[in-house]
Amino acid sequence: MELTHQLRSLHDGILVGIGTVLSDDPQLTVRKWTGPNPQPIVLDSQLRTPQSAKICHHPDKDCWILTVRPDAEPLGEQVDILAVRSADGSQRQVPLEEAMSLLRERGIKSLMVEGGTTVITAFLKERMADALVLTVAPRLVGGYKAVGNLQAEGCDYQLSIHPLHTALAGKDLIVWGDLHYEGPVP
Ligand SMILES: NC(=O)c1ccc[n+]([C@@H]2O[C@H](COP(=O)([O-])OP(=O)(O)OC[C@H]3O[C@@H](n4cnc5c(N)ncnc54)[C@H](OP(=O)(O)O)[C@@H]3O)[C@@H](O)[C@H]2O)c1
Repeated sequence: MELTHQLRSLHDGILVGIGTVLSDDPQLTVRKWTGPNPQPIVLDSQLRTPQSAKICHHPDKDCWILTVRPDAEPLGEQVDILAVRSADGSQRQVPLEEAMSLLRERGIKSLMVEGGTTVITAFLKERMADALVLTVAPRLVGGYKAVGNLQAEGCDYQLSIHPLHTALAGKDLIVWGDLHYEGPVP
């Protein structure tokens, strides 16, 4: 948790998908470390974020919600709705490339993508993540996959992590490194 909060404090923005907001209701703030809160951002094409969500009541920032709905009604005083359109305007989900350009224009130069599976898989599929930090806890929970099936998603490259770093943090193993997208899968 401390590492997660430290990482949050090192990024301009922190992004999660609407699935994570609905299941975990995260605050996305820096509480177990000292440092600034990153800008909270949600990928939420159809504006399903409830007004009661904790990220809509952030201590010092308005939450940015990326949607494809230009007709959006305001979601509350502490929420900025950012409508993103793909080049041909046809996408049902927020197009990541256009969304990242918009965030950059708004001053977000480093972005931590904290989950969940669907969103992490989408960033990897579009080759948009340049580093990965993985925490492995010595507990078998079962059921949850951090990354979806990239091959089934149509990716034709291999994804490797190097240089690979490891460290123990208490009982947890931390694995991190740069991501490399290498050629088509043989
Ligand atoms: N262990 C951890 O560190 C950790 C961290 C975070 C989350 N989680 C877990 O992850 C689970 C939630 O994961 P999830 O996969 O259900 O949901 P998610 O990845 O948080 O959100 C997925 C949703 O994001 C929206 N979205 C908008 N644009 C998208 C795009 N371009 N590509 C992909 N998605 C886009 C889609 O909904 P719309 O089509 O409606 O926009 C999609 O269904 C929870 O169980 C949570 O506890 C674990």
